Amino acid sequence: LLGIEGLSRFDIEALLDLSDKAVEVNRQVEKKLSTLRGRTQVNLFFEASTRTQSSFELAGKRLGADVMNMSVGSSSVKKGETLLDTAMTLHAMRPDILVVRHHSSGAVDLLARKVGCSVVNAGDGSHEHPTQALLDALTIRRHKGSFENLVVAICGDVAHSRVARSNIICLQALGARVRVIAPSTLLPTGIDRFGVEVYRDLREGIRGADVVMMLRLQRERMNGAYVPSVREYFRYFGLDAEKLALAAPDALVMHPGPMNRGVEIDSEVADGAQSVITEQVEMGVAVRMAVLEALAAHLPNA
Ligand code: CP
Repeated sequence: LLGIEGLSRFDIEALLDLSDKAVEVNRQVEKKLSTLRGRTQVNLFFEASTRTQSSFELAGKRLGADVMNMSVGSSSVKKGETLLDTAMTLHAMRPDILVVRHHSSGAVDLLARKVGCSVVNAGDGSHEHPTQALLDALTIRRHKGSFENLVVAICGDVAHSRVARSNIICLQALGARVRVIAPSTLLPTGIDRFGVEVYRDLREGIRGADVVMMLRLQRERMNGAYVPSVREYFRYFGLDAEKLALAAPDALVMHPGPMNRGVEIDSEVADGAQSVITEQVEMGVAVRMAVLEALAAHLPNA
């Protein structure tokens, strides 16, 4: 699974259906299944992660796999070993599934072409973060039932966000109307190609929206570009209770995490009654179980 791009609506809905079943498993006291018994999953994260890495680890373990977390910080990557040499070294140990996060767009795809096992993209640069989009879609579907005519506003640093890109593709495939809201400097060039409605004013963009998805400023990807001050950014693009009141009364507030409170979102909203942010984390484990389970059917000798 390298991206949402290339998946059909049927593929996405099938993964969401499988995820719903995994939610039920995860809510039981006994959570262990044997779907991946005897299989080896290696999590290879070249970028920091709290939610994605830990939920892939839990997902693999709940499906019965042997899971190894490769600690890139203390690996030979620090001695200059390349991505491909690292991947080939791990591949020689015969894993069945590699879960990879990398700071360069396209790196996971490149790696997938070189190894013989299944590869899951856990986020590559500003390109795609497919399991995040799936868990966001699952969270929305469980609250709203359907995506038809649903207005989803994706707000903030869209230019550097793999979450935004995967969500735009996923939500449109499912039938939602997607708005993106950002200052001009944080809109990607060519955004018009995606068929989204573009806003440069948060108040205008979230008016009547059914879902308000906030994104953090990804300063690590800005490479010398203009970075707004926290105070000016929060004033115009931070979600607080006053701005949220412009969205639909039952609008969901979402954030993929990590949140920067007081920058793109106020604590009152992040922790408020409309927030489903911690529920997104719960859905993350279920979606990753579903993805691993779907891959299991394609592993050799499955
Ligand atoms: N949403 C997300 O990818 O979070 P992490 O960076 O903590 O994995």
